[in-house]
Amino acid sequence: MAASSESSEPSSSSRADPVSGQATFVVVANRLPVDLERLPDGTTRWKRSPGGLVTALEPILRRNQGAWVGWAGVADAELDPVVEDGLELYPVPLSSAEIAEYYEGFSNATLWPLYHDVIVKPEYNRDWWNTYVEVNRRFAEATSEAAAQGATVWVQDYQLQLVPKMLRMLRPDLTIGFFLHIPFPPVELFMQMPWRTEIVEGLLGADLIGFHLPGGAQNFLFLARRLAGQQTSRGNVGVRSKLGVVQVGFRTVRVGAFPISIDSGKLDEQSRSKSIRDRARKIRKELGNPKHIMLGVDRLDYTKGIDVRLAALKELLDEKRIDPAETMMVQLATPSRERVDSYVQMRDGIERMVSRINGEYSEVGRPVVHYLHRPIPRDELIAFFVAADVMLVTPLRDGMNLVAKEYVACRSDLGGALLLSEFTGAAAELRQSFLCNPHDLDSVKDALEQALEQPREDGRRRMRALRRQVLTHDVDRWAKSFLDALAHTGAAGPALIAPSEATESDFSEHATGEN
Ligand code: ADP
Ligand code: G6P
Repeated sequence: MAASSESSEPSSSSRADPVSGQATFVVVANRLPVDLERLPDGTTRWKRSPGGLVTALEPILRRNQGAWVGWAGVADAELDPVVEDGLELYPVPLSSAEIAEYYEGFSNATLWPLYHDVIVKPEYNRDWWNTYVEVNRRFAEATSEAAAQGATVWVQDYQLQLVPKMLRMLRPDLTIGFFLHIPFPPVELFMQMPWRTEIVEGLLGADLIGFHLPGGAQNFLFLARRLAGQQTSRGNVGVRSKLGVVQVGFRTVRVGAFPISIDSGKLDEQSRSKSIRDRARKIRKELGNPKHIMLGVDRLDYTKGIDVRLAALKELLDEKRIDPAETMMVQLATPSRERVDSYVQMRDGIERMVSRINGEYSEVGRPVVHYLHRPIPRDELIAFFVAADVMLVTPLRDGMNLVAKEYVACRSDLGGALLLSEFTGAAAELRQSFLCNPHDLDSVKDALEQALEQPREDGRRRMRALRRQVLTHDVDRWAKSFLDALAHTGAAGPALIAPSEATESDFSEHATGEN
């Protein structure tokens, strides 16, 4: 994909307003679905952006023929709107200083750790906050220019929490939805945030605010009542909230839980293809046909508990509960946020653990842990899912975790086992996985051992149930439930605290509901 040669001016691909040419459906996210890559020879090309947000929303945008407003992933790129691979993109430029303060700073060294249960300590820095406000304003302005009269705008994730209010002030004609892709924290943690009132008020600019789990929605409702109703320098905004609804002056804001998913039908189909099956067999062969292959697939992020699974593996090897001659682990880790301190430190720690395990338990030409620090092409990744006996998903905290669902969607053979942290949103739906508490290493070790040793019939029964959930609750159903609810916002709409597309699980039993 060359950035210049194969791209064209937007017009034909989106559901555009026939008079203004502006889009009637707009997704706004920090990142575009593709990143611009500058090559050493001075040319550029587009490549897929990292992360679950893009995995989930790219097919939705394609099917809804919308426009996408976002950053192209590099500093100081002043790009015109462009159609790339059938997607209509509106790039928002960020300077190096803004990347340092808005993206690496406030988004990923303040909000990300605060919303993920302060696994690392959030930094509260006034300059970062000021830049976050400025950049959010730029996104709101860019969206205002892209959106047609009366359009539906869907704002995504923690980087853009001020956009709903800013956009409403610019364009009261728009219908605005907001979805948070990460956990919304417990009230007592959120209260640490020096700019907590501004954030809650920013979100309340939307007509509908969506979270993965009912617990997150409840936390938000409580905070909206407590913070946004307060007397401020601009007077009291008069906020009342009840189940699934916040009344802000004369406006009604709906709040609900919408557990996100994947394009499971497509993945199921891709994973059945002969080329993927052949590649999966070849991967097993290349690894020396061990009895058990364990797989981890993550962005290299401290929330993902990669250290937890390595520690569990090490102790199981030390205790001779697993045999290094017949067990192997593959960890595929996409580089992520590489200039943020906590990520640099975490990478060092993980690489030390990998090399320690390999030093103690590998044979020449046969490492126990294979570790690849790079993004893996999609087809190759699917082949790894098909090849793996046990999928290791052990986050300390994760809003959903799409990798868990991807693994299940790829196992039409009913083989394989899923080790899943209770602290993921996915655990609320995927109850037939081997659930573990990543803060309790014994729980992880026991669950991993059970997954490795599960009887074949038991495994098939579990995988069948998991697949029923993932294949019937796909990303189209998620987007439809959100967009239908958004279309029906208004005083008479239903309360939305429970997902309208309820899953088979009982959320109230989920040990780690976001409370
Ligand atoms: P997050 O959004 O926090 O990164 P998710 O599990 O929800 O976590 O989504 C991650 C997405 O990135 C998935 O679609 C997954 O397949 C993809 N991914 C993760 N690791 C890799 C990798 N090493 N190579 C390629 N894709 C990856
Ligand atoms: C998660 C976040 C997304 C983010 C992605 C990749 O999925 O919810 O908003 O885009 O991680 O992270 P990055 O910082 O590289 O955009």
